[in-house]
Amino acid sequence: MRAAKRKIPASFWLRATMLSALPALMSCATQAQGIPQLATRANEAPLPEIVSRDGRHALLVDGEPFLVLGAQANNSSNYPFMLPSVWSAVEDLGANTLQIPIAWEQVEPVEGEFDFSFVDELLIQARERNVRLVPLWFGGFKNTSPHYAPGWVKLDNARFPRMIRPDGGNHYALSPLSEELRAADARAFKAFMEHLKAVDPQHTVIMVQVENEVGVYELVRDHSPLAERLFRADVPLTMCQQPGASCGSWPEAFGDDADEFFNAWAFASYVGAVAAAGQSALDLPMYANTALRHPTQPQKPGEYASGGPTHNVIAIWKAAAPELDFVSPDIYLSGSEDYAAALNHYARQDNALFVSETGTSELFPRFFFDAMGRGAIGFSPFGTDYSGYGNYPLGAKTVTKDVIAPFAHNYALLGTGAREWARLLFESDVWGTSRPDDNSVRQFDLGDWTARVSFDEWQFGEKAWFPDPAVQKDASGYKNSGVLVARLDESQFLVTGTNARITFQPDEAALPGRKLIFDRVEEVEYDGGEWKFLRMWNGDQTDYGLNFTDRVQVLRVTLGTYPASDETRSRPVAQ
Ligand code: DGJ
Repeated sequence: MRAAKRKIPASFWLRATMLSALPALMSCATQAQGIPQLATRANEAPLPEIVSRDGRHALLVDGEPFLVLGAQANNSSNYPFMLPSVWSAVEDLGANTLQIPIAWEQVEPVEGEFDFSFVDELLIQARERNVRLVPLWFGGFKNTSPHYAPGWVKLDNARFPRMIRPDGGNHYALSPLSEELRAADARAFKAFMEHLKAVDPQHTVIMVQVENEVGVYELVRDHSPLAERLFRADVPLTMCQQPGASCGSWPEAFGDDADEFFNAWAFASYVGAVAAAGQSALDLPMYANTALRHPTQPQKPGEYASGGPTHNVIAIWKAAAPELDFVSPDIYLSGSEDYAAALNHYARQDNALFVSETGTSELFPRFFFDAMGRGAIGFSPFGTDYSGYGNYPLGAKTVTKDVIAPFAHNYALLGTGAREWARLLFESDVWGTSRPDDNSVRQFDLGDWTARVSFDEWQFGEKAWFPDPAVQKDASGYKNSGVLVARLDESQFLVTGTNARITFQPDEAALPGRKLIFDRVEEVEYDGGEWKFLRMWNGDQTDYGLNFTDRVQVLRVTLGTYPASDETRSRPVAQ
């Protein structure tokens, strides 16, 4: 089970803030001894879990890899009367999972009095549509601010102090060092998870986001008397074990990075403690999303959300919040190089890649292929509902069916085979690329083969054959453009894509003196647990590479070779 697979560092047991996790951990221990757990009772589905093997990751739902083809509702769509406008967009998108806020102010408007009626309604409606849920716990921190905390929290600075600026003034964000805030947030989150445990034995809810884009802008860390004392005290053991660090105070351990790393530790510990409280009730996968530090350009903490799980402090988050299964990027950068860099920062041996938010404008659908090519467990454009709100210029001005269509197309490519793709993403080699901004050719090293992916091609022939400028002008310029390849065996691949061409070549070192011939190019669809044959592609459909358009097409491609010359014909070559 999940808890037994998860590595829990020894220092975890020592953390005073983790005391609330003890019931969950004790249940892990009994599980390891083979005592049946509630979650495996006959009438309950297996608990969703994140599993990792050989640097690959999968989200298991009902015991099998599951790919989150996600939709994220707008921030204020978490009320029953908004749900119709949410579901119609989810349906147009073909999403199998909805991320939607559950706000602290909504469930605990009066301290100690809980109202989960929205949760209950949401579960009923999601099940009617066969859509899974990822609730976003908007607790003490939403985009760093306390706006979603109930009035009894956000208006009571004496009990729930704000961060203090170096000049002694109050900052807008609450302090993650406040034990009172942490305990109140954790209590509310635990009540939510207890409720879920009672009403969701089938696990319509497959994982939970804890808080939303934590950290702080325009400040690097808290300067309250408590913060100053902790900053000068010895760092926790897990922190001085960080690469390049030494034991001592934060400045002694981390030098110039001390302020930001201290804040990352403070926020990670806070989110970890809230997650632990929830897991003690129901041990679902949990993660924290990130307002990114620019992936390729220098930026100072505070210009981005200091203390959030930005790429430079992922190791600190891993050490300080082992309760979280992963940290995820919210990617609103529309340049192909920046997007790839952000994905690379979060696709790690020790971190499952989940694109928890991304833009809805026409530049973003293509990045689905890049995320899948890096083994992502899911992808989710933000603001995909018809509430009338658009987060332009990060996303589309208004989210309409037309805006959603290219995302829907990419989801449909995997569609009924999404479970099978999820298995391949976890167990096999997968490659994916979108059209880069400069339209340059991309290559995949498939082992014995090299694949070449090109863009703005016609389905027929080579552009060089038709130099007439009038003809050349008719290049596609498609924005949603990319290819995804998964290995079935050494010379057989599952291939899909949109508005792109893929060609293959034998690798000269692996298959010397050989040339490509397609053995079989079969168009297939996933149906009833297997790939069903629809037709062969041959002739014009294969003579100029495999050309994907705006059709939903999946190919099972078996590659073969023939000798390039008489000389090679005389000696046998393994195929
Ligand atoms: C990122 C946040 O996580 C979302 O809740 C939302 O505020 C978007 N930004 C808006 O672009």
